[in-house]
Amino acid sequence: MHIQSRNSRTSNQQRSSLESGSYQLERRCDVNSKWGQADINDWILCLLKLQRGEAVLDIACGYGLITRLAAKTVGPSSQVVGTDLQLEFIRTAHERERKIEELTFMVHNAMMPFPFRDETFDVIFCNFAIYHFSTIDGFLDEVRRMLRPQGRLLVTGPDPANNEFLYQVHIAAGGSITANMARATFKNMMEERLLAHYSYNYHVFRNMITFPSIDDFTRYYSDTELFLANIPTEERTRHLLRVRRVLENSPRLQNEKVVGGYLARKL
Ligand SMILES: C[S@@+](CC[C@H](N)C(=O)[O-])C[C@H]1O[C@@H](n2cnc3c(N)ncnc32)[C@H](O)[C@@H]1O
Repeated sequence: MHIQSRNSRTSNQQRSSLESGSYQLERRCDVNSKWGQADINDWILCLLKLQRGEAVLDIACGYGLITRLAAKTVGPSSQVVGTDLQLEFIRTAHERERKIEELTFMVHNAMMPFPFRDETFDVIFCNFAIYHFSTIDGFLDEVRRMLRPQGRLLVTGPDPANNEFLYQVHIAAGGSITANMARATFKNMMEERLLAHYSYNYHVFRNMITFPSIDDFTRYYSDTELFLANIPTEERTRHLLRVRRVLENSPRLQNEKVVGGYLARKL
């Protein structure tokens, strides 16, 4: 296993704002598994139906949890690669699993050409990331180039019903919903683009999270960067106090994660 760094022509500003999100990502994932009822990783692996020996690419792999699970499923003598824009994530991914020889992690900006030959992978997946990309047409062309005929692609993101309670709390605390918070964006961006080159099905995963305390809920709200990003910095402390007040008057501390997954087969 090795770390490579190439094609990461990212500005310092973009990098530092993304890096500050890495702890939040890990905390959010912890909450989803600790206080939720269902396991997203099981759902993803179940959809992918990985076979021994298959070559797998995980794009925007974060700290590589699913990449490692995929590598264990396809076994030795296969090629499994995880790529992410952030060196910090790739370092963590590397540190967490040193024993799987066929697993490679590398820093790579998904907006750049990938350093792999045509038709290299049986399976490519990209979880909770595609809506962060500045453009996706060129990216999807690259994915199609690297997939073998009949290869599978899984792309996951928020379903339009995601985080209903979080949105209600945000509005009740005086926050507004801006265009970049539209929950239908992921679905709209995917469907028209997949139709031409893939046969696909849309799958839905639901995970009801019950928070043990208002503190825990408020932290989760803050970690879901989308909400605070739309509140001016100097207003954030006051806004979070209003969020707490809304929660104190709420009969429940439950929020449902609703995730959509496009499982596509290259035509
Ligand atoms: C919400 S995280 C998801 C991580 C992982 N796929 C998971 O499911 O846990 C989004 C990831 O997208 C990565 N990312 C954002 N823009 C990227 C780009 N242009 N190229 C590669 N990775 C990118 C971030 O660094 C981050 O790791």
